[in-house]
Amino acid sequence: MSDPAVTLPRHADDFGRVYDLEDPSPYYTALRPSDYRMPAVLAEASKAVGGPLRSARDAGDTPRLLDFACGYGAVGALLHHDLSMAALHARYGERRWRPVDGRRYWEADAAFFAARRAERAAFEIGGIDVAGAALAYAAAMGFLDRAFHENIVDHAPGDALKGFLEGVDLVVASGAHGEHLPAAFARVLDCCRDTRRPWFLYGPRPDMDWAPLNRLWAERGYRSESLVAEPIRYRKPLSAEERADMLRAARALGHRDEAVMRGGYLLADVVLARPEADAGNPPVERLRGCID
Ligand SMILES: C[S@@+](CC[C@H](N)C(=O)[O-])C[C@H]1O[C@@H](n2cnc3c(N)ncnc32)[C@H](O)[C@@H]1O
Repeated sequence: MSDPAVTLPRHADDFGRVYDLEDPSPYYTALRPSDYRMPAVLAEASKAVGGPLRSARDAGDTPRLLDFACGYGAVGALLHHDLSMAALHARYGERRWRPVDGRRYWEADAAFFAARRAERAAFEIGGIDVAGAALAYAAAMGFLDRAFHENIVDHAPGDALKGFLEGVDLVVASGAHGEHLPAAFARVLDCCRDTRRPWFLYGPRPDMDWAPLNRLWAERGYRSESLVAEPIRYRKPLSAEERADMLRAARALGHRDEAVMRGGYLLADVVLARPEADAGNPPVERLRGCID
């Protein structure tokens, strides 16, 4: 019997089955109708804060970026290549990969990305994820300079990751489960010297509770500020059921429907958290304008 195709998820709760495959196409093909944009938004935001980050932290020419819950490495793919999110969706949407195909497309993908490699690396990129197959793909394609198959939500980081975290300048989370961020970010901070603590960039969506993360910022002497004047488009719901669930969860957290969805998209903020000593330099207004 031939190996069946992966059934594509139609709700965020069902995405687990496409997070850790030998090929990213089911993940991107499932998300394509939703116009999922966060990796591109956060890659642009990372570039926008890169200059100020280098001067505020004396970070050298190639600051070190950690992509938490990087999955197939979309943020690194965009930062290390001259490519758009639409191009990623198109590339992976062209094929109908099945588990029996294994790594069949790796060689062609590697050639595709090598031909589009950015001339200069804006960041040295490390990725963490619990999905080992996804990480292996991201590393093989050059989306990540370092890959860490670890769960820092539940466990302290190993020595290699600790070493990487000691020198990290910017931590990015795109599409990561909001409930994981307080524990993961606290672990990152525990590995950093008080004099060299990283900046954090993430896209809080209104159907998740951000109070625990905001408490972490207050406890650790961080200031979090929105990088956007208006919420940005996160993605469209994949089904009527998912839309209803998003609205229900956001209402329970006190949000009005108009602040949660616009033009069929779930909206989200884009937040930069910096140590109080770095905050205000430059003022967040100077970092705005690059993100839509
Ligand atoms: C929605 S995906 C986002 C992937 C990628 N950042 C993107 O935007 O395309 C969520 C990711 O969280 C990862 N994940 C789940 N639990 C995790 C944990 N405890 N530590 C690290 N990653 C985790 C999943 O394996 C998955 O790759």
